[in-house]
Amino acid sequence: MLNGQLISFEGLDGVGKSTQIDLLQQALTSRGMEVISLREPGGTSAGESLRSLIKAGTFHSSLAELLAFETARAELVSELVRPALARGAWVLLDRFADSSLAYQGALGQLDMELIRQLNTIATGGLKPELTVLLALDPMQALLRRRGAKKPAAGGGNAESTELDSIEQRDTVYFSRVHEIFSELARAEPQRFHVLDASQDVEAIHRQVMERVQEMQGGQHG
Ligand code: TYD
Repeated sequence: MLNGQLISFEGLDGVGKSTQIDLLQQALTSRGMEVISLREPGGTSAGESLRSLIKAGTFHSSLAELLAFETARAELVSELVRPALARGAWVLLDRFADSSLAYQGALGQLDMELIRQLNTIATGGLKPELTVLLALDPMQALLRRRGAKKPAAGGGNAESTELDSIEQRDTVYFSRVHEIFSELARAEPQRFHVLDASQDVEAIHRQVMERVQEMQGGQHG
């Protein structure tokens, strides 16, 4: 029996997921709740090793890369997420199975149904009670990521909205990732709460809290 609550945060890189997770964790912890936050891929020693391999571009096959994400996910779910939920803790996840559908699905080389099946195997069918999707126009997300990087010596282009060739390729890919996230949210409107990530941090946090309070009301009522 799992008594805790599982909340995942999804969205493109650079939309502010980790800031919102920190704020939610602080808010819930200050109410005396046990809250743990974990990131994917990672969170466990196997997961962090896989994260390094993935980030280093070790996997050339998109299937192998997907399996690496799923392996990290299976370890995280069995070692940390399920035990935490069983003791009544709230678990906040920076990305979960929806990221595989969006990111690996957007590559266009893997069947969405295969990704779905592997997600179910890795999670044992565990789904978040709530998934907060921080939605941002892919171009804006790219400019935020660029702004977060240190400008290159002698002329960073953090201010320019002109895209170099890698960024142009990335924008096509991230537009597809964004589209898939939106489709997933439309297909499961009860689980997904879509928030406009261009709002300020506090406004987004207030909206997250409103939704979480509804969940708490449902849990006790
Ligand atoms: P990370 O640096 O954690 O990105 P962020 O913190 O900005 O979300 O790197 C995680 C990257 O891995 C991110 O680009 C999304 C990608 N990813 C997948 O492609 N598939 C997955 O299943 C997961 C969990 C992440």
